[in-house]
Amino acid sequence: MAILVFPGKGGTGKTTLSALTIKYFAEREKITLALDLDPDSHLYKLLGVKINKTIGDVVDRVHKEKKAELEPKKPVDVSDQEYFLSLIAEEVLIESENFDLLTLGKPSIDIDCYCPVFLWSQYAISQVMKSYGVTYENVVVDCDPGTEIFPRKILDEVANVKPIDHLLIVIDGSKMSLDTAKDIVEETKKSNLKVKNVACIGNRVDDKTFQKQVKEVAKKRYGLNVVGFIPTDHELSKMSLTDQNVFEIKDSSAFQALKTVMRNLNL
Ligand SMILES: Nc1ncnc2c1ncn2[C@@H]1O[C@H](COP(=O)(O)OP(=O)(O)O)[C@@H](O)[C@H]1O
Ligand SMILES: [Mg+2]
Repeated sequence: MAILVFPGKGGTGKTTLSALTIKYFAEREKITLALDLDPDSHLYKLLGVKINKTIGDVVDRVHKEKKAELEPKKPVDVSDQEYFLSLIAEEVLIESENFDLLTLGKPSIDIDCYCPVFLWSQYAISQVMKSYGVTYENVVVDCDPGTEIFPRKILDEVANVKPIDHLLIVIDGSKMSLDTAKDIVEETKKSNLKVKNVACIGNRVDDKTFQKQVKEVAKKRYGLNVVGFIPTDHELSKMSLTDQNVFEIKDSSAFQALKTVMRNLNL
């Protein structure tokens, strides 16, 4: 059982590797809670499901109901928090055979305003996380590329329920992706995010000599280990273009490499 988080610079492969990891667990008949924390939500496509609403949409709806002093559509004996949680369970949580998916999305209201609905989002996540170890054997988090407040707070909440086992920062061999990795590590320390293992995973760094160089630079200049390299795989590019999902691809060199990484991490 483990919680795995994939942060990293935009376009490095966070969503792709998150989806392949969920496929890896599914093949082992392990149910995963998938969390898409990128406001630009794409994970559902690679998992082959449709989403109706995001947590952000529910935040908006409840916020509007409160502001307009509309009577929320809930029985009086149900607390606001419970009402919020029921909306998440009914409208946001997608239940599938091998995984459940929660998509954060993006609320349209001002993020800086002190607003209880944001606290309820955190409450909702902590409640869903209570199923960890019961309904879910693993949690896989596809992060946003930036440092927006809303996704950070949700990630904090996940780590408060149980420390994150592996923060696998996706790099593409560029200095920029390593600099972003450094920023992520610093931010993690600043916010006291509870993490057991922080490492990098190289994606689309195919040349062996270059891989060695990337490994050395990551270690010497950034103090980061690289747990493995996932090759450029045209099956993956085709998959995203033709609306296929990760469960439909058969011959994937990227998936084979990811399996090796997961096994090396004892997952
Ligand atoms: N190993 C790979 N081989 C081929 N294409 C890849 C690979 N990893 C990612 N891609 C492609 O690169 C693009 C960006 O990947 P994505 O997972 O969306 O990155 P991120 O989530 O970090 O923004 C997508 O079109 C994806 O299909
Ligand atoms: Mg992504």
